[in-house]
Amino acid sequence: MEQKRIAAIVGSLRENSYNRQLALAAKEIVGERAIFDIIDYSEVPMMNQDIEYPAPEAVCLVREQIKTADGLWIFTPEYNHSYPGVLKNLIDWLSRPISKEERQVLSRKPIAISGASPGMGGTLIAQDLLVMLLSMLNANVMNSPRLAISNIAQQADEAGHLALSTSLPYLQKQADAFLKFIG
Ligand code: FNR
Repeated sequence: MEQKRIAAIVGSLRENSYNRQLALAAKEIVGERAIFDIIDYSEVPMMNQDIEYPAPEAVCLVREQIKTADGLWIFTPEYNHSYPGVLKNLIDWLSRPISKEERQVLSRKPIAISGASPGMGGTLIAQDLLVMLLSMLNANVMNSPRLAISNIAQQADEAGHLALSTSLPYLQKQADAFLKFIG
C-alpha cells in the first residue's frame, strides 16, 4: 500500500515559532507512518481578485501539495482571539475553485488542528473559529482530539526551544487518531 501523505500548515511565519516546533515534533512522532511535509507558503501574495486567474505560481504549488495530501494538519497560534491573518489569507486562496472544472482543494479534506500559546487560552478560541471557517468550506475536520496547549513557554528552554514534556503524550494521541482518520 502506498504511504499516506500529510501536509502541514503553520499559522506563524516566526522563525522560532512554538507552533512550527510543534509541527516538527508531530512530524517526528508520525515518523515512517506517513510522509509529512510542512508547507512553505511564505511567497503566497495577499488575496487580490485582479491576480486570481491564472493563480500565482506560489498559490499553485501550495494547492498541489494539499490536493495530493491525504490529510492536512494545521498548527495555529491565536492572534487577538482569532487565527492569524496569514492563515486566513492562505485559506482564502485555497477556498477558490482551481478552474471551471476543478473544485477548491479543502472540500472533504481531512483536517487536524493543533495550537500552542504562551497564554492561558491555548488557542482554543482561534481553533473554534477555524473550525467554523473550515466547515463552511466543506472540510472534514477531526473534532476530537484537538490539541490546545496553554502556557507553552513552560515547556521550552530559555532560548525558546520546545521540550514538550507534559504535552507530548497528547500530541502522540492526536497523531495516532489522525493517521486513523485519514485511513
Ligand atoms: C498574540 N498572542 C496571543 N496569545 C493568545 O493566547 N491569545 C491572543 O489573543 C493573542 N493575541 C496576539 C496577537 C498578536 C498580533 C500577536 C503577535 C500575538 C501571543 C501569541 O500567542 C504568541 O506570540 C505566540 O508565541 C505566537 O505563536 P508562535 O509564533 O510562537 O507559533
